Amino acid sequence: MDITNKQDIEKIIDLFYERLLQIDEIKSVFNGINFQSHLPNIVSFWSFVLLDEQGYTTNVFEKHIHLPIKPEMFEVWLKVFVDSVDELFTGEKAELAKQRATILTFTFKSKWEKVKKSD
Ligand code: HEM
Repeated sequence: MDITNKQDIEKIIDLFYERLLQIDEIKSVFNGINFQSHLPNIVSFWSFVLLDEQGYTTNVFEKHIHLPIKPEMFEVWLKVFVDSVDELFTGEKAELAKQRATILTFTFKSKWEKVKKSD
């Protein structure tokens, strides 16, 4: 079954966060984050990417600059995301989700190294 609506995206995000927050190092990056406002933002980001829903205009990279992320965490983030998608969905949108996440992770990682070097 492929991703077709917002509820499908919520399922992915629920599983993704359940797993991501089991990793202590990554969990600590989320200290002080209000999940009640964060999770709807993530769902609307992915709805924008996968369902062509309008409304998400945030610069996602900038949202991360202040966070204590170590470059090696990006691969872990990606693996957890890809595994969560694979476990729940198959098809064109599922492939697109993984492809977009992969591209964004590598863009983040290379931008990250530049931003942090010029600190
Ligand atoms: C180690 C990797 C990552 C960690 C630990 C992480 C953590 C976080 C945290 C803590 C926030 C909340 C920021 C805030 O509200 O101040 C956030 C926001 C967000 N992250 Fe990540 N992130 C990571 C990688 C990524 C990647 C690769 C993407 C690409 C899809 C992404 C997409 C988003 C989006 C869409 C938001 C919401 C921005 C908004 O508020 O509209 N994150 N992330």
